[in-house]
Amino acid sequence: MRLAVKSGKRFKEEFIVDADKSISHRCAIFSLLADGVNEIKNYLRAEDTLNSLEIAKSLGAEVEDGGDIIKIKAPKKLKEADDVLYCGNSGTTIRIYMGLLAGIDGFFVLTGDEYLRRRPMKRVAEPLRKIGAKVDGRENGNLAPLGIRGGELKSFEYESKIASAQVKSALILAALNADKPSFYKEPFLSRDHTERMLKGMGAKLDVKVNADLSCEVTIYPLIKKLSPLKFEVPNDPSSAFFFAVAAAITGSTAILKNITLNPTRIEAYKTLEKMGADIEYILKEDKYEPVGDIVVKGNKLKGIEVNEKIPWLIDEIPALAMAMAVAEGKSVVKNAKELRVKESDRIKAVVENLKKCGIEARELEDGFEIIGGTPKKTVVDSHGDHRIAMSFAVLGLLCGMEIQKAESIYTSFPNFFQLFEKIADFEVINAD
Ligand code: S3P
Repeated sequence: MRLAVKSGKRFKEEFIVDADKSISHRCAIFSLLADGVNEIKNYLRAEDTLNSLEIAKSLGAEVEDGGDIIKIKAPKKLKEADDVLYCGNSGTTIRIYMGLLAGIDGFFVLTGDEYLRRRPMKRVAEPLRKIGAKVDGRENGNLAPLGIRGGELKSFEYESKIASAQVKSALILAALNADKPSFYKEPFLSRDHTERMLKGMGAKLDVKVNADLSCEVTIYPLIKKLSPLKFEVPNDPSSAFFFAVAAAITGSTAILKNITLNPTRIEAYKTLEKMGADIEYILKEDKYEPVGDIVVKGNKLKGIEVNEKIPWLIDEIPALAMAMAVAEGKSVVKNAKELRVKESDRIKAVVENLKKCGIEARELEDGFEIIGGTPKKTVVDSHGDHRIAMSFAVLGLLCGMEIQKAESIYTSFPNFFQLFEKIADFEVINAD
């Protein structure tokens, strides 16, 4: 599917973007640990999160989709699924389920689409193996399809070299099924929805965030099932950020409604502010997660160097790159090697496509450099990556753009097209 953006306009608009993807995945997966009926409002119905829900069903959960509320009731004991568990494009689905299934009796096979099957799983498989899990797959357990023979797990003390919420969440779930308390440390606090939600459900976790923002979690094994989730998922700051950048580069105003204001998720907005945009955060409530509106007003943008708190803005870097492409002067992103193993190699995809738009850009091993300029219309390859597709669609507001493999947008943000209509003239062509 090709997205042909013809033009954009200056705007002042409200956007109710889709529900948060990270939190929705966790609602589906953590419901399996609860006794009783979990009630989830505003669950994200995108391909990735629907896959997480399908897997919960295959493991025995009863799911009733009442439109407004999804009810999930876990079985007494998770069952061995009678087929492979399909995670689609979603790293979060496969990695968090690895941690859960490693401690459940039975044999499970997790797989995904051609992109997911190229992404590294060793970061979860290795620590799980150390505590007695049986995980295998291509490249000695690094690539899906992955086979897991679930069983008893030992407690652990594990210091991760990478700050990854998917790895942390997988290990926390494994620790809940272990024999004694476990300890997990990451070099920098990654998004903390898992800790917030599991604690809210009654799990015993001690979380310590140190002055250098490294994070330590002590996890106590479950002695009984958790309380069910009764929760309304806030809207996704990563999805909303495309409209923040749209406002920033067109001198417009975007009012982004009911967004999680969790600090581990909104650092990209702080960066956009430093580049020159006016941004206001209006806190409205705080249950599990702070939630509110974000108002972004476009202004003249200047280049910036981004090299810290990277895990707090990693998913927004492709969209930020579009602001950098039109800002005055040079921008640099560093310490962001993880971008190379996301849904695509995002360093390569951003630089290659910006160059096609006539913008001076250069790959670094762990980031990129961009010299702001005047972009021109071209055909860009999204590499099957939703965030690359939406980022270049936003740049197209200024100059027009054709984006190939735009169907990837449905993995995270099915409502994107409807909202984009408010600010752009575009056409969807059902061929590449
Ligand atoms: C996610 C964690 C992040 C992020 C991904 C979603 C999650 O990856 O990039 O899109 O929901 O846990 P890491 O595991 O590298 O932190």
